[in-house]
Amino acid sequence: MAEPLRILFLSAEVAPFAKTGGLGDVGGSLPKALHALGFDVRVVMPAYRKIEAGYPGVQSMPLRLDVPTGSGVVHAGAFEGKLPGSEVPVYFIAQNNLFNRENIYGYGDDSYRFAFFSRAAFALTESINWRPDVLHAHDWHSAPAIVWLSTAGQANPRYHGVGSVFTIHNLAHQGLSSWNIFDYLQLYTHSLKEEAYGEVNFMARGIYHANIINTVSPTYAREIMTPDGGARLDGLLRHRQGDLHGILNGLDYDEWNPATDPRLPAHFDLDDLENRAEARRALQATVGLPQIPDVPILALISRLDWQKGLELMGHTLHMLMNSYSGPAQFVVLGSGAAEYENMFAQLAAYHRDKMTAYIGYHAGLAPLIYAGSDMFLMPSRFEPCGLGQMIAMRYGSVPIVRATGGLADTVHDGYTGFSFHDFSVGALWDAIQRATFIYNVDRPNWRRIQANGMSADFSWQRSAQGYAQLYEWAQAQQRYRG
Ligand code: ADP
Ligand code: GLC
Repeated sequence: MAEPLRILFLSAEVAPFAKTGGLGDVGGSLPKALHALGFDVRVVMPAYRKIEAGYPGVQSMPLRLDVPTGSGVVHAGAFEGKLPGSEVPVYFIAQNNLFNRENIYGYGDDSYRFAFFSRAAFALTESINWRPDVLHAHDWHSAPAIVWLSTAGQANPRYHGVGSVFTIHNLAHQGLSSWNIFDYLQLYTHSLKEEAYGEVNFMARGIYHANIINTVSPTYAREIMTPDGGARLDGLLRHRQGDLHGILNGLDYDEWNPATDPRLPAHFDLDDLENRAEARRALQATVGLPQIPDVPILALISRLDWQKGLELMGHTLHMLMNSYSGPAQFVVLGSGAAEYENMFAQLAAYHRDKMTAYIGYHAGLAPLIYAGSDMFLMPSRFEPCGLGQMIAMRYGSVPIVRATGGLADTVHDGYTGFSFHDFSVGALWDAIQRATFIYNVDRPNWRRIQANGMSADFSWQRSAQGYAQLYEWAQAQQRYRG
């Protein structure tokens, strides 16, 4: 049997070890699906505080990495573990000064932290004597690995012929730095048109230097090649369109399964929806909403970020909570920008008997909201893929989404959910009215839409095959270049 292809998989977030959003979900689930296809995939991420503090199943490795940088050799350690429920190895780069901090991101030296992480990942593969065939890097945080591989890395024959795939999860975060970062990484390159004088843009660099690029839905792949959706990188993306693909994310079906999810008070599936009513009651009890059986419960779980279209929610909630479309309850779970946190907190204080706002990140509460709500809102301004709507469908909460990016690819209006096009309160409200109307007066139709969503296939199986194809193309490009 041929040796399995070796994939070096770098991500700043890998659930359950570190997650702020969907990047973490993908980092924790795609490698398992790739492993199932027969790849020797190994995940590398930074050892954040949670790991340094001691994480069950994660051990310190007896090695010391001497990572060369423009500021001299920097020492690092490493931990190792496995993705839960799998044999996929995860290595953690341990550097106390850089990663043992309260949060994952948000520091002035982030570009150095992730440049170091990217460089150290190669040092780790050398010290465990494992040579990757393909580097698969995600978002700007691991883009320095793509740049290093295609420049300085080529001085070492070990890295000849190693293909690279760069996955864009979110073009809004580009990782800007100053040119000094290339001295730190000890590499030489020219500047890109997308970079102002003396500036480095790691997102642009990943797109420029990778063999193959992809993003997380076919529609977002098209959108980012337009001036409206390209966040100033659309020209570069059009330049590389022959190598740019869109592959829809999948869900980790081990984690997101309403029939087995240990975080739920009652289990259910399509053939046994009775128990879903229990999840609904538990949700109302947990978040302190009156136990009214037939009122639609609308929900929103999200990073509270500009991307998510929350401007549309203020006025909409005013109408919803004043029963303009009939009685309704609303629950929101999210954290992020203060303006949105305050908006939801204030509205919740005003509509105490109908609405609850959980401001914060609460991994344990999210499943109960997906399982206990009737409708799930995602009015995103843009959405590369979106996992929330897929989890909601699987858990029987019908999504109401703006038809953009991955939301357009996964939610089919009137069939698996409700969608609207214009970025406006009017369009969102129209969709909510259509949904609540069917919920209130045509329950069999509602059940049909709910059932369609619950039985849709959002597993990784098909999408993982897509990545297998990208790896093959990345390798072919390397062979062709000789
Ligand atoms: P994004 O990656 O842009 O944040 P996605 O829809 O792809 O959006 O993924 C969001 C993921 O993060 C989902 O798994 C969702 O349940 C989770 N999530 C977002 N905010 C919270 C929160 N405050 N508490 C718990 N889980 C959250
Ligand atoms: C990003 C996007 C989200 C996507 C996730 C995982 O955070 O905002 O749409 O689902 O990455 O790819």
